[in-house]
Amino acid sequence: MTENKRVTFGSKLGVLMATVGSAVGLGNIWRFPYMLGENGGAAFLLIYLICILILGLPVMITEFFIGRHTHKNAAGAFKAMAPGTRWSLIGYNGVLAAFLILGFYSVIAGWTLEYILQSVTSPMANKSVEVFASEFSAFSSGLIRPIAWTIAFITITHIIIVSGVKNGIERASKIMMPILFLILFILCIRSVTLPNADKGLAFLFQPDFSKITSSVTLSAMGQAFFSLSIGMGCLITYSSYFNKKTNLQTTALQVTLLDTLVALLAGIMIFPAVFSFGIAPTAGPELVFITLPNVFAQLPMANVWSFIFFILLGLAALTSTISLHEVATAYVHEEFQFSRAKAALLVSTGVLILGVISSLSFGIFKGYTLFGLTFFDLLDYVTAKIMLPLGGMMICIFVGMRVDKKILKAELTNEGTVPFYFFNTYSFFMKYIAPVLIGIVFLNELGVIKGIQRFF
Ligand code: PHE
Repeated sequence: MTENKRVTFGSKLGVLMATVGSAVGLGNIWRFPYMLGENGGAAFLLIYLICILILGLPVMITEFFIGRHTHKNAAGAFKAMAPGTRWSLIGYNGVLAAFLILGFYSVIAGWTLEYILQSVTSPMANKSVEVFASEFSAFSSGLIRPIAWTIAFITITHIIIVSGVKNGIERASKIMMPILFLILFILCIRSVTLPNADKGLAFLFQPDFSKITSSVTLSAMGQAFFSLSIGMGCLITYSSYFNKKTNLQTTALQVTLLDTLVALLAGIMIFPAVFSFGIAPTAGPELVFITLPNVFAQLPMANVWSFIFFILLGLAALTSTISLHEVATAYVHEEFQFSRAKAALLVSTGVLILGVISSLSFGIFKGYTLFGLTFFDLLDYVTAKIMLPLGGMMICIFVGMRVDKKILKAELTNEGTVPFYFFNTYSFFMKYIAPVLIGIVFLNELGVIKGIQRFF
């Protein structure tokens, strides 16, 4: 057997930062505004926030329980807790989700690298809204450049994964997170002081309840899972590196709060600008990339802002790709006894293939669709809207059915040394409310509930 000794995170701050690093990423700054724009604005935000609170938080705490209790990767954890049963399918679902997410996520992460380069090479100050948009579409539909950046991003992730959990992840997250907050804040201020900013704020914060449909609800739920990195074993894998002193409850609460704050800041940064510059909020995956350069162009030293921002966004994406890669690598490494380097290489190669096809689906493969979705959209849909919520639901059902409440409580209170005031509320939500609600959202989207209503 190859060396398989598990490392743990170095410090309390390291634990928090690495987990926040996984949660905060393109999901908050790229996907959240684009989903919100496509799904009716404030109505989406409202459901998103409800999902974070009543589904996200309980599922996150439950994943932390599983990970630290077993000290195993996403699939191994279920095997250890329920040997010889099919429960390990939850783990496989997670490992597969991580792999598929990496496939499309790396493309967007690659786009941030292009924008870093452009901040250095192409003056932004006097460009019009239309020029920014057409330059973006020329780039993203191209052949060589976006693929090269995707490959570059996967390679960077690979190198960090091979160099070891502790050094790579911890160091990167500790430095960049606070700077990211600061710059988001500054950009929010610039955005809300643009002409017509109030229209964007109204779009973001004044819900039109008639916009709440089953597909908006599913999108908001999927976004909540995606943004918090839950439902696919990522936080099981990370918490398997936590030590016995980590306070699981406060860590979950802090991660959730910070992640939601970043998404809200991203919304405040994007939508006033979208309305001010006359960009369509429904622009899709390109929304952030065609909106932000216009905000930078309104600031003195536009290129400098753009440069700093995209470096930070790239780093935020990197701490997330690291966590995704780690799920798959830890699985291959521990379950098949491959060396870490070999396991990582296998994962990276697979991701590379998915990444190239995803990238091409903005260009020459745009016309090839399944259920009306391009390859990129399909990976995004299947993972965020199906695999993660389904995984979250099964995680709750698993712990609800298979785990003795005393064991659960002992782990979540560090053997009774930290209080858990709302344990019964948490346990009730995790066991009954979360799985039922997720199930209802699925059935609703499939039209089953409408069918039943018609029947009566
Ligand atoms: N939460 C990350 C983000 O918002 C993406 C991610 C999803 C990471 C699932 C890990 C697992 O960018």
